[in-house]
Amino acid sequence: MPGTSDRKRGSLRVSEGSPRARYAGVRSATEALSRPLTAEDCGVQSMPDASPTKWHLAHTSWFFETFVLRPEIPGYRPFHPQFGYLFNSYYESVGDRHARPQRGVLSRPTLDEVYSYRAHVDAAMTAYLDGAAAVPALVELGLQHEQQHQELILTDIKHAFWCNALRPAYREPGAMATPPAPPLSWMAFPAGIRAVGADGSGFAYDNELPRHRVFVEPFELASRLVTNAEYLAFIADSGYRRPELWLSEGWETVRAMDWRAPLYWEQRGDEWQVMTLHGMRAIDGAEPVCHVSYYEADAYARWAGARLPSEFEWEVAAAAEPITGNFVESGRLHPAAASNGRGLSQLFGDAWEWTASAYAPYPGYRTPAGAVGEYNGKFMCNQLVLRGGSCVTPQSHIRASYRNFFPASARWQFSGIRLARSVLSPGS
Ligand SMILES: [Fe+2]
Repeated sequence: MPGTSDRKRGSLRVSEGSPRARYAGVRSATEALSRPLTAEDCGVQSMPDASPTKWHLAHTSWFFETFVLRPEIPGYRPFHPQFGYLFNSYYESVGDRHARPQRGVLSRPTLDEVYSYRAHVDAAMTAYLDGAAAVPALVELGLQHEQQHQELILTDIKHAFWCNALRPAYREPGAMATPPAPPLSWMAFPAGIRAVGADGSGFAYDNELPRHRVFVEPFELASRLVTNAEYLAFIADSGYRRPELWLSEGWETVRAMDWRAPLYWEQRGDEWQVMTLHGMRAIDGAEPVCHVSYYEADAYARWAGARLPSEFEWEVAAAAEPITGNFVESGRLHPAAASNGRGLSQLFGDAWEWTASAYAPYPGYRTPAGAVGEYNGKFMCNQLVLRGGSCVTPQSHIRASYRNFFPASARWQFSGIRLARSVLSPGS
């Protein structure tokens, strides 16, 4: 099991105070995210990859009931005898009829019953953590897991609202104006043997371990994310109609899906608009492009005369950077333009950054024993690594070694593009 102590990371301050306070902070954050939604909103599943908010609320409680309360509390009385079955995340792997695409049919239990389930679990967890000197390893894992689902609540409801012709707003628009994006510059990194992976200073998932050495050739990393204005230039240059720019699978997908722009973009007359968690609005050219697939990120990079970074290049560049940025706590819930500061910006927050690295085990990796081992190792096939978190990631959840992963065609996460370039010496 990875380490369980928590570093102080930014404004959420969930690591401060007692284990009970930390637990309560994460659990209440989930419910705060769900509060703007109606009971009807919470039941919607707009596609197989997404889940209803109600399911997220219940499944995160299922984790604590299954992995902490049942094994640890003698005589613990589960809230409902079938919830352990209903809100388990891996039905699909055993061919169950309540498979993932069917989560939206669960009109029962009601949303109120799910909140009662949460309260039941919280009461038992609070008693369990009373007087604990530190957060137990499985509880820490459950809290990190819940933070992942906090992000999914927002990404999944955004997709559901986009599928609704009324295009509802999750939250009413606030001030969204951004300054112009600074010019893109390139930051150089020398060749060398570098250590990557979790360094043991705080919580890490098993897929960030073991820490090991890699050799990186000299490279350059773009100072900020690719902007909407830059991506519009790619579209205007027939980027979506030129097969030479695309990976073979990407080109097949573009044609099959008739993609002509990122997910959530719509052309209305001469204006491009985009769906946000605040409803539809005009594209802001200074903001980072978002909701692109790996295929689109790769094609854009080729068009721009660059490439995507490897996950190790990204981590080498990010290792010394502070974990600051536009996270869910900002309330913006949308990527923001880069600031004019020196060096690298937007590494953390705003948009997950596609890397060119396949999601694969590190040397010496072993899947943890037991059911908790189902979360990472079994997905190490046909997925690409993304780094850095997004504008809907909790700040205390992200770190330089964090490896997110999605299939190349996925677009409903807040996924964007940072460019890299190789620096080859003469004759190499
Ligand atoms: Fe889960």
